[in-house]
Amino acid sequence: MTTPTPLTQDELKTLVGQAALQFIVPGDIVGVGTGSTVNKFIDALATVKDQVRGAVSSSVASTERLRAIGIPVLDANDVEQLSVYVDGADEIDGQGHMVKGGGAALTREKIVAALARQFVCIADESKLVATLGRFPLPVEVIPMAAAHIARRFGTLGGKATLRLKEEQPLVTDNGQHILDVTGLSITDPLALESEINQWPGVVTVGIFAHQKAQVCLLGTAQGVKTLRY
Ligand code: A5P
Repeated sequence: MTTPTPLTQDELKTLVGQAALQFIVPGDIVGVGTGSTVNKFIDALATVKDQVRGAVSSSVASTERLRAIGIPVLDANDVEQLSVYVDGADEIDGQGHMVKGGGAALTREKIVAALARQFVCIADESKLVATLGRFPLPVEVIPMAAAHIARRFGTLGGKATLRLKEEQPLVTDNGQHILDVTGLSITDPLALESEINQWPGVVTVGIFAHQKAQVCLLGTAQGVKTLRY
């Protein structure tokens, strides 16, 4: 008897992207995140696009992909509430708290998530952690505050590094910069998110605890597991 070949990370992302379709309410507007896992969700959406009235997108990149498959993208200001927001994560813990922003889209992701009644996180099992903090914490900052904020992370035991792209500071869709912070063990995500939110010059911290996931579709070797929080 031959042992089945384990699914690749890419295949796991495809599976969870497809599984997220079950949360789409026909005729509704869907909130769409950003990243390689969400790209699989957008591919899956193309197969049911007649059931989707439109989308609110969390990045220029996702907007382009949605328009390419013929799904209208609405301005977040024109939508009062979404039934569901589907997005990936860089890390997710056992309570549904997440670290996000590896794709630099964290601010718009938090805004669109805030419009939604339900956050459905799609992730392969490499993203599931006991404690957040192994993945460098992304923080979007106003450029003139970057050095000051980096020093404040130093007082918490963290090391903040300005994210670069082609040797220049990466500029987000909102015209700001990103600090990536290593060395933090985020044992109280709600408290740390609240604290960092108070620091002048912080646009968005990539801890999603106040807006955690209600559901995680986790791609595992045994198939897609549905975790509810
Ligand atoms: C984008 O800014 C992030 O929050 C993504 O949701 C996160 O980086 C997950 O991306 P992947 O699906 O590419 O791992």
